[in-house]
Amino acid sequence: MRGSALGPRCSGGIGFVARAGSPGAWLPPSPRSPSPLLDIGTNHRHTVGMPTKIGTYDVMQESVERLHGSGLLLVSGTNGNPMTIGWGVIGPIWGRPIFQVLVRPSRHSFTLLESLGEFTVCIPTDEQKGACGTCGSRSGRDIDKIEACGLTLAPSEHLQVPYIAESSAHYECRVVHVNDVVNATLSSKILAERYPQGDLHRIYYGEIQAVYRH
Ligand SMILES: Cc1cc2nc3c(=O)[nH]c(=O)nc-3n(C[C@H](O)[C@H](O)[C@H](O)COP(=O)(O)O)c2cc1C
Repeated sequence: MRGSALGPRCSGGIGFVARAGSPGAWLPPSPRSPSPLLDIGTNHRHTVGMPTKIGTYDVMQESVERLHGSGLLLVSGTNGNPMTIGWGVIGPIWGRPIFQVLVRPSRHSFTLLESLGEFTVCIPTDEQKGACGTCGSRSGRDIDKIEACGLTLAPSEHLQVPYIAESSAHYECRVVHVNDVVNATLSSKILAERYPQGDLHRIYYGEIQAVYRH
């Protein structure tokens, strides 16, 4: 079921209730009221641990290894649409911790990122390689990927975008800058290899608000 905001697909989490988004705005979310911790919903299918806040770069190596393998799961939109990503960069810029993700304009996730300016990046477990395949080949325009993969969402602490409860860790990121990959300045070799159809990526610079292990 595709509910409004998080609806029945969202369970547990860090103890804050997500609110409906304000399309078109890139404003920080309003403060939320704490809710009882781990109020697991009826859609819960997995024993989910209490998320523990960890250091910003504590799971960086694991994240990069996943980018090279079956991918990480980028979640956008208040309803939590997961998309597999294989490209990304983590590190300091402007004296802030930044997670850069590259998203092609043809993706449903692109529309969601443009309207809300927030995302989570979830590190899948080994058991979720199949989910990475589905989330990397099907669009949230056509199917509810959370339901299709048997996953659940949990509310983030800092964002209106949820995270995947069954993932092993997640980043909460707020977009502070974007830029586009452009023909004029890209190596012609990479242009030919990676963009035969155009659809050049937009790079979203997400300031990492916090990182949690589950
Ligand atoms: C391993 C893997 C890595 C991927 N990396 C990216 C990426 O970094 N950026 C991107 O735009 N698409 C990437 N994709 C493709 C998207 O995940 C795919 O088009 C997805 O269906 C888009 O979902 P959406 O329409 O719900 O946003 C990747 C796919 C796979 C399988």
